[in-house]
Amino acid sequence: MKKIVINGRRPLNGEVEIGGMKNGALPIIFASLLVTSGKTVIENLPAVKDIDISLEIIESLGAKVERSDRHTAVIDATDLKVSEPPSNLVRKMRASYYLLGAELGRFGEAIVQYPGGCDFGGRPIDRHVKGFEALGATVTETFSDSGKCVRAETENGVVGANVFFDDVSVGATINVMLAATTASGLTVIENAAREPHVVDLANFLNTCGAKVFGAGTPTIKITGVDKSTLHGCSYTVVPDMIEAGTYMVAAAATGGNVLIKNVIPKHLEATSMKLAEMGVSIVENDDSVEVSVPDELVATNMKTLPYPGIPTDMQPQFCVLMCMAKGTSKLVEGVFDNRFQYVDQLRNMGASIEVNGKIATINGGSPLYGATVNASDLRAGAAMVIAGLCANGRTEIENIVYINRGYEDIVDKLSALGADISLEEIADN
Ligand code: EPZ
Repeated sequence: MKKIVINGRRPLNGEVEIGGMKNGALPIIFASLLVTSGKTVIENLPAVKDIDISLEIIESLGAKVERSDRHTAVIDATDLKVSEPPSNLVRKMRASYYLLGAELGRFGEAIVQYPGGCDFGGRPIDRHVKGFEALGATVTETFSDSGKCVRAETENGVVGANVFFDDVSVGATINVMLAATTASGLTVIENAAREPHVVDLANFLNTCGAKVFGAGTPTIKITGVDKSTLHGCSYTVVPDMIEAGTYMVAAAATGGNVLIKNVIPKHLEATSMKLAEMGVSIVENDDSVEVSVPDELVATNMKTLPYPGIPTDMQPQFCVLMCMAKGTSKLVEGVFDNRFQYVDQLRNMGASIEVNGKIATINGGSPLYGATVNASDLRAGAAMVIAGLCANGRTEIENIVYINRGYEDIVDKLSALGADISLEEIADN
């Protein structure tokens, strides 16, 4: 078991390359199961654990997967079969539930164990179920020797329908898109998620021959096509806006000057605007942004929202930045019920933060001090790394399995930017 060790107070300087978007690559990998003949080549995959898990899951169902390099997968789903995937894999990752939409679209039926993944206040799938039922599926909970499963069945395949989401859900939008791709008739999704990876999925599906229109707006229209018309293709995943945002915040929090390369500035707009409010200089180029802090960081208020708002996956990172900013900041979590579990870890480092439900009040401007902390989820883990980079002294971060799920080579990338950071074995005591 390894831990990340950081000796803090060194500004980050230099250049860093951003990889493909984890949360965009996962739906595309499951979407490739809709292609009944031919190979799909997916490029710019991030080399992170969640990608490996999703490829293992589809292989367990009969898909053939070749890895020509750590950022590319060639998938042939011709011999795919409906069966229960290995529960030990499904439980590691919430995105496993995309199997439901993909198998419904391919076979008109699906069975998946309840997904795992980061837990902040429970992660229901009622909106997914509502979408599937609107498309004519009967969704039930069943139990097998691998635990509680979700089963979706249809009479003769999925039927196009109007699906209205009371509240935005990225996963439910994606799952309905997958199932509706081969539905008979038109599906209209209202109050759809508008994240860049929803658009990326639509672009991938259309490259395979699907008819998905309006992704990126609140209304997505999908004209179902016969699955035999879906063909393999080559597709490159968009850059990861959350990985990019994480390095932007790390550069600002350490008072460094970093060029963050291979990004789509438009996807970073909300993050960039909030950083600018805090006194951070952001210079946008075609496919990179340069981050520096000309003067001092200042407090601000922030609320996370579905895209195009400030992503909830940037919330823990911004919380650390607010600890470094002079003054009192208010941070409202607008997406999840309980996404402040990591705050106790920051308090162990000297942070002054009060949490009241979905609102955190951060009294910034005092130094942080190195401590032994752990990562309670993927983005909280990234926040612990940023806190360690800013803190006086040595910080040890345990439970880094979460960080490895979503940040490719984070220790090497930060080291190359001048951080004193390394991986060390945790001594068995
Ligand atoms: C995706 O989760 C991401 N995960 C999350 O990133 C991200 O935080 C989230 O979208 C919001 O952007 C992946 O893409 C694998 P939601 P998802 O459905 O799809 C509630 C990371 O760190 N809800 O938009 O689960 C839900 O509890 C991860 O990369 C229901 O109540 O998010 C939450 O409060 C963390 N019922 C809100 O809606 C449902 O059926 C938004 O969830 C579905 C969701």
